[in-house]
Amino acid sequence: MSASRSVLLIIGGGIAAYKVLEVIRRLKDRGIAARCILTRAGEQFVTPLAVSSLAGERCFTDLFSLTDEADIGHIQLSRSTDLVVVAPATADLIAKMANGHADDLASTALLATDKRVLIAPAMNPRMWQHPATRRNMAQLERDGILVVGPNSGAMAERGENGPGRMAEPPEILAAIELALAGDKPGGQRAIGFLGRLPGGNHAAAGGALAGRHVLITSGPTHEPIDPVRYIANRSSGKQGHAIAAAAAAAGARVTLVSGPVSLPDPAGVETVHVESAREMLAAVEAALPADLAIFAAAVADWRVADAAPEKMKKDGGALRPLSLVENPDILATVAQRTGGRPGFVVGFAAETQNVIDYARAKLARKGCDLIVANDVGGTGVMGGDANTVHLVTPDGVETWPTLPKEEVASRLVAHLARQIAGKAE
Ligand code: C5P
Repeated sequence: MSASRSVLLIIGGGIAAYKVLEVIRRLKDRGIAARCILTRAGEQFVTPLAVSSLAGERCFTDLFSLTDEADIGHIQLSRSTDLVVVAPATADLIAKMANGHADDLASTALLATDKRVLIAPAMNPRMWQHPATRRNMAQLERDGILVVGPNSGAMAERGENGPGRMAEPPEILAAIELALAGDKPGGQRAIGFLGRLPGGNHAAAGGALAGRHVLITSGPTHEPIDPVRYIANRSSGKQGHAIAAAAAAAGARVTLVSGPVSLPDPAGVETVHVESAREMLAAVEAALPADLAIFAAAVADWRVADAAPEKMKKDGGALRPLSLVENPDILATVAQRTGGRPGFVVGFAAETQNVIDYARAKLARKGCDLIVANDVGGTGVMGGDANTVHLVTPDGVETWPTLPKEEVASRLVAHLARQIAGKAE
C-alpha cells in the first residue's frame, strides 16, 4: 500500500455492510488505504469484487486464507496496518472478540493484531440490549476497543426501532481519523467512546463537551431495612443514563454514579454502582472535581435509622416500628461547597403538582444553577420512555415539548455545553 496511513477493514455480515462501501471510497479520498477482509456472512451482503474494486486491491476472504496462506499470513495482515476497523461489527463478531475466538480469518486477525481496534456495532435492538451483548461490550471496553455508535432509529426489519443502527459513514470516518491521530497520552482510553453525537456526524472528541469532566447521578437509592428488605422508589434511571450517554457522545469524560437499576452501563462512561444515598454521596465526592454535575438520581429522602443486621422475622412478636432519619442531600452538599464546586450544577425536580413553583424554591434552597423540573403525577414519567421538562433558572423558565428521554438528554447536554462555554468566556 502506497498511502501513508492504512486501515484493515473487517466487514461483517449485516445489512449495514453496504454502507461500508461508502467508507472505503471516502477513505481513499482522504489518502487512507483500506485493506479489506470480508467475513463469510459479509459475503451474503456485499461481494468481494465490489469491495476490491473500491479498495483498489484484493479483498481477503476465508477462502483465500485457507488456500493461499503463504502469500500473506494472518499475522502480517493484522499488523501491516495502522488501525483495524470492524464494520458492521455484528453481535457474533463482538462475541468472538470478547472471548478471543480465532475460527476464521476475521477473528484470527483480530486476535493477532497489535494495533488499535475500532468497531462500529450494528444489530437488532434486542440483540444489542441482550445481557450477553452487554457483557461482551463491557469486556471489549476493558480491552481498550474503541467504539463508534450504534445509533438509535428504525431498523431494516419492519417495525423494529431502537439502538442498533450502525453509525453513518461520516461518523465512522471521523472516528477513524481520530483513532489514527492517536491522541492518547494515557493510552486507548483517552479516546474512549466515539459514540453518536445527537444530530451530528462528527466524532465525540471534537464534541461540545470535549475536555470536560461531567458527573451524573442516576437511578433510585435503596435504603436497607434489613439484609433483604429496603426502601426505594420507582426511578428507572433511564433519564440519567441517557444523559450520561449523551455527554459521552459529546466528548466529555463522564462519571456516572448509579443507584440500583436494570439498565446496562452506558458505553464509554465510567459507572460507579452504589446502593444507598450515603454511598452515593461518597462516590460523588470521590469523583470530584467536575466541570458539570447533573443530579438526576431519585435519592431516597429518608433511611431507616437502625437497619437490622439480620433478617427481621414476622414470628418474633410485635413488629418493630421503623424509625427514619433524613438522608444527606447530595445535590445541596455539592452545590454549596465553598471549594471545589463544579462549574455548573444541575438538579432535577420530580413533582406531582405546582411543578414550576416548587422547582424555583428548590433552585434557591439547594443552590444549584438550573433545575430540570418534570411533572410525574400519573403521567408514567417514572419508568417511562418520554419526559416533559421545564428548565428553571433564576432568569426564567423554558418548557420543552414531550420528548423521548434520549432526546431530552441530547438537548440538555447541548444546552449545558452552551451554558458552560458562555461562563468560560
Ligand atoms: O427529592 P428532591 O425533589 O429534593 O430532589 C431534587 C434534586 O435533589 C434531584 O436533583 C435529586 O437528585 C437531588 N437530591 C439529592 N440528594 C437527596 C435528595 C435529592 O441529590 N438526598
